[in-house]
Amino acid sequence: MNIAFVDLKAQQARIATSLDARLKKVLAGGQYILGPEVAELEGVLADFAGARHCIAVSNGTDALRIALMAWGVGPGDAVFLPAFTYTATAEVVLLAGAEPVYVDVDEADYNLDLADLKRRVAAVRQAGRFRPRVVVAVDLFGQPADYAALNAYALAEGLLVLADGAQSYGAERDGTRVGSLAAVTATSFFPSKPLGCYGDGGAILTDDDGLAGAYRSIRAHGQGRDKYEIVRLGMNARLDSLQAAVLLAKMEVFPDEIERRNQVAERYSRRLANHVVTPNVAPGTLSVWAQYTIRVNDRDGVQHRLKAKGVPTQIYYPKPMHLQEAYRRADCEEGTLPVSERLAKHVLALPMHPYLQEAEIDYIADAVIDAVRV
Ligand SMILES: Cc1ncc(COP(=O)(O)O)c(C=O)c1O
Repeated sequence: MNIAFVDLKAQQARIATSLDARLKKVLAGGQYILGPEVAELEGVLADFAGARHCIAVSNGTDALRIALMAWGVGPGDAVFLPAFTYTATAEVVLLAGAEPVYVDVDEADYNLDLADLKRRVAAVRQAGRFRPRVVVAVDLFGQPADYAALNAYALAEGLLVLADGAQSYGAERDGTRVGSLAAVTATSFFPSKPLGCYGDGGAILTDDDGLAGAYRSIRAHGQGRDKYEIVRLGMNARLDSLQAAVLLAKMEVFPDEIERRNQVAERYSRRLANHVVTPNVAPGTLSVWAQYTIRVNDRDGVQHRLKAKGVPTQIYYPKPMHLQEAYRRADCEEGTLPVSERLAKHVLALPMHPYLQEAEIDYIADAVIDAVRV
C-alpha cells in the first residue's frame, strides 16, 4: 500500500472546479495582496468561528507575534507557554523581548497543565524579576485547551490569554468554536494543517474592536489612515489573495472534512486502544485531529518497522522548548518539565487526513499492532 501521511491531492481533486474558478478570478482581478478574496475569507472565517473579527495574515507565527505586539508585550514581561509545543510558540515570545516561562502539559490531553501554570505564575511573582503578563495556550494536535478554566484563572490573576490555535481552527469545546474560546486566537494555514492553503497563511480572531484595528495596522507596517501614515511599529504580514482563494475553496468542504477526520480517529482508537496509548479527547470537545498521536515504547524500532511496511509516521515533537539550545532558560534544566520530556520520547503521529480509506486505516492499525508486539 502507498499511504500518504497527509493526502492533499485527494482534496485538490475534490475542490478542483471551485479552486480553478477562484484562482482565475484572482489572476484576472490583479489585486494580488490583500485583495477582495482576503476580505471575503476574513468574513467566512470569522462567521464560522463565531468571532467578530478575523484578520488574515502571512502565517501562524506572525499571527502570534502580532498579537503580542498589539498588547505591547516586551522586556520585563513573563509569558507562560507549554514546553511541549511547536517552535513558533516560544520563538515569538523571545522575539518580543519577553521572558518565556515554560509550563508542563497534562498527560491526558497534552495541553497546558493548569496546576503547573498556577505554581509557575506564583513563583515568578515571588521572584519579582518579571511581570506575569500573558498565557499562551496551545491546542495541541487539534484539541482545544480548557479555556473555561484558563480564562477564569487568568482573569483572577490579571493575565491575558492568547490561544495558539495553529492546529485547531474548526475545533470546538462545549459548543464553542476555536476563535471564540479565548480573547485572542492565532491560527495557521500551513499546507498540512486541517485547514491549509498552498503556501504560508495565518489569521487572528478576536471580538475586540480595538485589537482588531491594531492587528490590521501592524500587518501592514503599522499604517494609520493610509499607508504613508505610520502610527505604530508594524511589519509586513499581509496575506496573498491567491492563498485566500485556496482557503475559500477549501472552506466549502471543511465541515465535512472535520467529520471525516473524526471518523478516521475513531476507527484508529477502536483498533489500537488495547495496544498503545491512544489520544484522549476531553468530554464536550471536538478535535480537528491535526495529528493522530499515539505513545509507544521503543519508538525508533516501531517507526522503523512501520516504515518497512510503507506506513509513514512523524514525531511531533522530539524536543521540548526548554531543552532547545536557542530557547533555554537558566532554571529549566532537564527534569524540570517531566511530562513534556516524557512525551517527547514516546509520541508518534500516524497518517491523518480526511481521505484515508477504511482499508488503509486497518492496514496501518494492523502494522502498529505488529510493530509494538515485537
Ligand atoms: C502550535 C503551532 N504554533 C504556531 C505554528 C506556526 O504556524 P506557521 O507555520 O504558519 O508560521 C504552528 C505550525 O506550524 C504550530 O503548530
